[in-house]
Amino acid sequence: MNEGCQGCGCGGGAGGGESRRSVMFKLGAGLMAVGGAVASVPIFGALVAPGFRRYGNTWLDIGAVGDYPAGETRLAKFAIPGASPNDGETATAAAWVRGMEGDKFQVFAVNCAHLGCPVKWFQQSRLFMCPCHGGVYYEDGSRASGPPPRGLFEYEWKVENGRLLIDAGLLPGLQETA
Ligand code: FES
Repeated sequence: MNEGCQGCGCGGGAGGGESRRSVMFKLGAGLMAVGGAVASVPIFGALVAPGFRRYGNTWLDIGAVGDYPAGETRLAKFAIPGASPNDGETATAAAWVRGMEGDKFQVFAVNCAHLGCPVKWFQQSRLFMCPCHGGVYYEDGSRASGPPPRGLFEYEWKVENGRLLIDAGLLPGLQETA
């Protein structure tokens, strides 16, 4: 008589119990493998996608040319191209715009070239100052003193139909742009 299987209907003996355990183990392992694969997709994407991402020029209108008069430096705020509605405050960025004679401009990233703190413009001293470690920049964005290794990063800009546009598709920095 078969001692390993007492009317369970599996049709097997002691080997049938082993077989069921084995099947359950394989099924569990298979489900875990599928679950792990599904869960790893976003992580893999986050690690690999930046290597494949191509940044195109995204010209963004930041106002009328007259909003940035010669001799003044003003803050321009804009929505980051491609930002998601769920990004909240992080979907907005800002740039310092220096107006010069003849509809010429310099558009600086607000982030310090040292460790990225937002710099502030002081009209009276005509200097940008960083509150984090005391970095200072002249009005043309060049480094004046402190830890920053270079001047402020600048955006590409152009004027079209009396409007000032900046290439906001790529935040200024030392990264590859091509
Ligand atoms: Fe500006 Fe360090 S982040 S000086």
